[in-house]
Amino acid sequence: MPESPHSGSMNGSKTGQASGLILGIESSCDETAAAVVRAGTEALSNVVASQMSLHANYGGVVPELASREHLRNIVPVVREAMAHANVTFADLDAVAVTEGPGLAGALLVGITYAKALTLGLDKPLISVNHLEGHIHAVLMETRESSESPLPTPLLALVVSGGHTHLYLANHQQGSETWTYRNVGRTVDDAAGEAYDKVAKLLGLGYPGGPWIDALAPHGNPRAVPFTFAEIKHRAPRPGITNKKALANTEGPHFDFSFSGIKTAVLRYVETHNMRDSIESRRAALAADPTLTPKSEAVTRLCDQQTLDLIASFQYAVVGNLQRQTFAAAEALDARSIVVSGGVAANRELRRRLQAEADRRNLPIAFPSLALSTDNAAMIAAAAWPKLLAQNFASDDLGATPQLRLGQQ
Ligand code: KG4
Ligand code: ZN
Repeated sequence: MPESPHSGSMNGSKTGQASGLILGIESSCDETAAAVVRAGTEALSNVVASQMSLHANYGGVVPELASREHLRNIVPVVREAMAHANVTFADLDAVAVTEGPGLAGALLVGITYAKALTLGLDKPLISVNHLEGHIHAVLMETRESSESPLPTPLLALVVSGGHTHLYLANHQQGSETWTYRNVGRTVDDAAGEAYDKVAKLLGLGYPGGPWIDALAPHGNPRAVPFTFAEIKHRAPRPGITNKKALANTEGPHFDFSFSGIKTAVLRYVETHNMRDSIESRRAALAADPTLTPKSEAVTRLCDQQTLDLIASFQYAVVGNLQRQTFAAAEALDARSIVVSGGVAANRELRRRLQAEADRRNLPIAFPSLALSTDNAAMIAAAAWPKLLAQNFASDDLGATPQLRLGQQ
């Protein structure tokens, strides 16, 4: 490996922060990722080994297969991230790893590897919440492009295959440390999960988001009027007695539900005799693995009724995400909005949220496409304020599959 310009006495200590070089490791779901980020701002490398094609055969992530693939990929992926960044392990100031939420076995691969690495190197280990990572993907890119920082409190919509969460995020006065309050979440399926399930139902590929994103512009979004029921916020969870926590859980909540629309699409398919066309599309896609969501041939595999259904589904989902996000921003006096997670790659979502934010004169930021879906640069970026605060993980760090972010 080439000599690094950063080696020498500046680094190598357990708490050294001279150059702020953090190796991030992410293995919470179906991507094995590693990245080196300097001072939470500059991604020197960002390597992602996707298992998508492996899980596509099953139409969803198979946890046992995911763990096995992470085991196979973790060493080469980290090695590649270090080589691309042109740094050595000795140059690092810390190693950051996703603690949760995610699949237990998958998380454990990254955590165990990161622990072994930091033990061997005598460097600090930093644990990061995957959802905080998604938020920091956007904050990092804003800093990198030298845009003025997003005014706080900011409202973050984290919308992916596993999550649809709204957080009110704030800076602690005079420090880099961020605090979060969960002000909305899905009560059943995540938005990305609804995309994946509807795509599967319609005989399209996995993950479903990119297929629906590509096909929706060819249909009429008002052909099928899907509606969303209002979600009543649950009572505070048992065991919360602390007055402050109670006050927060009782604050306004902006929850989501996406299982209803998935069932409505299924009902539509059944009542409109679409089964045969779905099966022939499924067979045609299976027969030609070179077809991608953007292939023109894929649009021809869909009749107008299917294209209208796809456009209407997306129109309804994006409308729901938009309504809840802006209602929350208004009620909570958010001064800017961040949208992140795999579904943030969706073009209609970006276009409509950007237009609404412009109308309200509210700054809004989305990650680049590469940083929308799971990656490790976001984990290293989220670890930077923790390195500054010397907020390190203990030696007994384990995987927390249901890890929550901030106050609930
Ligand atoms: O953040 P991510 O990579 O992994 C999770 O943490 O879940 O998000 C993956 C999800 C999948 O459900 C996928 O269908 C969705 O993001 N997705 C999209 C698009 N690209 C990915 N959904 C809608 N439109 C897209 N362009
Ligand atoms: Zn994610």
